[in-house]
Amino acid sequence: MKNILITGGAGFIGANFVPYFIDNNPEYHLVNLDLLTYAGNLDNVKEVEKHSRYTFVQGDICDSNFIATLFQKFQFHDVIHFAAESHVDNSISGPEAFIKTNVLGTFNLLDTARKLWMSAPNQYHIGFENSRFHHVSTDEVYGTLGETGLFEETTPYAPNSPYSASKAGSDMIVRSYFHTYGMNVVTTNCSNNYGPKQHDEKLIPTIIRKAIQGDSIPIYGDGKNVRDWLYVLDHCKGIELAFKKGKAGETYNIGGRNERNNLYIVDKVCAILDEMKPKASGSYKDQITFVKDRPGHDLRYAIDATKIEIELGWKADENFESGILKTVEWYLRKYAN
Ligand SMILES: NC(=O)c1ccc[n+]([C@@H]2O[C@H](COP(=O)([O-])OP(=O)(O)OC[C@H]3O[C@@H](n4cnc5c(N)ncnc54)[C@H](O)[C@@H]3O)[C@@H](O)[C@H]2O)c1
Repeated sequence: MKNILITGGAGFIGANFVPYFIDNNPEYHLVNLDLLTYAGNLDNVKEVEKHSRYTFVQGDICDSNFIATLFQKFQFHDVIHFAAESHVDNSISGPEAFIKTNVLGTFNLLDTARKLWMSAPNQYHIGFENSRFHHVSTDEVYGTLGETGLFEETTPYAPNSPYSASKAGSDMIVRSYFHTYGMNVVTTNCSNNYGPKQHDEKLIPTIIRKAIQGDSIPIYGDGKNVRDWLYVLDHCKGIELAFKKGKAGETYNIGGRNERNNLYIVDKVCAILDEMKPKASGSYKDQITFVKDRPGHDLRYAIDATKIEIELGWKADENFESGILKTVEWYLRKYAN
């Protein structure tokens, strides 16, 4: 049985990934390391808490002594690294935590893995020859697009927020460990995820929650910002595929070819709610209000996922219209409690 370290597995994407990975990979015992910041919640992984191949550890990826001890104890064969500060708005009001967790935390994990797995550049210890470090990153590192064009793996990095800059920094450190030490790393850069278990602060949960509470539904600026929305389980499947079949040192973009602007999103969610949970009178759309735009708000992100589709055979199973139905149902159940 191999031990795999999953960081950030009590957050949104990690908590969707953990049960999926445990089910699909009986050869692994999974250790979920999470600091349980405001964004982490063990309720997100309740379905696996008693699983024989699952262990939860609370701790900070920035604490190098703690991380070294953990690697010694579990002799991790592989790492899939999700943990991060992830909310752009928070990175504008408090950037320091983003630099610490996303840059320093990633460095700590990577360097500890290198020391456990390797004796010198390109030389792996026996038993760790196939060990892999998978870094989960974002398309936001590429900056913003105009009306046309797509982010490719070769698009130059141009991060615009402290969040995306910190993720870009972590991607560069991961890249350097391949080129300098010959370490077996893979990075995936994904577009905006949506689906169950996302924190209340994010756009789609906010729309649903405010709508059913009868509050105004805040939309930034004119609502024309475009994101390429991907159902979270499709992202998890892409990560698993790149982790298992991706080429060392490569990066893979993951995106669902589902570009939608915020106006479309809010209209669509309100229309679904009008069907599923009709108001006494009128539509949830009446609650939409436009608020002052986020500073430096990127206009458009869109992913060209050709590389992972062609080279690894990945394909999104959901389109936005199918995924959003499941998502609204899930939050209606959550907010009913
Ligand atoms: N959400 C998206 O749309 C999206 C898209 C592309 C890439 N990503 C990337 O995917 C990863 C996961 O994103 P998410 O949306 O699930 O984030 P999230 O904020 O929901 O979860 C992050 C998790 O990391 C944990 N964490 C934070 N700081 C930590 C620390 N110092 N030590 C240990 N654990 C810590 C938190 O407690 C939380 O459980 C991030 O690296 C993010 O950059 C997210």
